[in-house]
Amino acid sequence: MKIAFAGKGGVGKTSLAAWTADWLARNGKNVWMVDADTALSLGSASGLSLEELPEPLICREDLVRDRIHAGGFLNLNPDVGDLPEALGVDLPLIGEPAPGVTPGRKRLIVMGAVTNAGGGCACDANALLKALLAHIVMDRDDWVLVDLEAGVEHLGRGTVAHVDGLVVVSEPSMRSLQTGAEVGRMASDLGLTNQALVINRYMGGEPPKLDGLPQWSVQIPPLDGLVERQMTDASVLGLPETGVLDATIEKVLNKLGL
Ligand SMILES: Nc1ncnc2c1ncn2[C@@H]1O[C@H](COP(=O)(O)OP(=O)(O)OP(=O)(O)O)[C@@H](O)[C@H]1O
Ligand SMILES: [Mg+2]
Repeated sequence: MKIAFAGKGGVGKTSLAAWTADWLARNGKNVWMVDADTALSLGSASGLSLEELPEPLICREDLVRDRIHAGGFLNLNPDVGDLPEALGVDLPLIGEPAPGVTPGRKRLIVMGAVTNAGGGCACDANALLKALLAHIVMDRDDWVLVDLEAGVEHLGRGTVAHVDGLVVVSEPSMRSLQTGAEVGRMASDLGLTNQALVINRYMGGEPPKLDGLPQWSVQIPPLDGLVERQMTDASVLGLPETGVLDATIEKVLNKLGL
């Protein structure tokens, strides 16, 4: 019930995380979406305006200091149990819930980048981010979707240890697939072997057999509805192609056995 989305930059990780969360909520599941990226775009992609976006945890110096230096000591195992409720903001459900289903709740936590905690207290902020990520991934019964930073640097045990499934997102290009293979290999080395590959903007052809690249794959075509709209609207939800996306997401979740 915990899924991470990883892959090269710009391949569609955030979009797919937003589509998946909306599908789950429309099918009655409660979802926590965790934006662990620098670009902070998961909220916008899910239909929040810039004013509605929550402040990233990484910018909350007060919180970081309080938790990490509680009692005057450096605490690398800080208490974060209350943070999901305190930091999560509700996201609107887009589209109709499945027939006869009471929609679930979609909540967003913006953490900021795990590897890239800026400012003077990078280590402190990083420790808190990792603790929160581990907590939310370990202790929650709800669905948790983690939108990871592009690339492979963040793929440490802290981020993947308690994740049940990894969605590797790639464009149909060799360089993007090579990054996908690297992500897949690193995650497998860390014990996360339950993986699926989503080839986004797929136009035809067979993906190459690269060591580490998940064998099982589905494709998403270029979406005209998204291309037409994205100049004026940051949301990727409520597209005319929602039916195609829903069917693809269902396949991915089935493959991951979740
Ligand atoms: N199938 C598609 N058809 C058309 N446009 C798409 C498709 N998938 C994603 N996009 C667009 O491509 C851009 C990049 O997508 P997205 O932000 O989801 O990628 P990302 O992997 O999260 O990027 P980053 O590494 O910067 O976080 C967005 O403008 C998105 O709307
Ligand atoms: Mg992104």
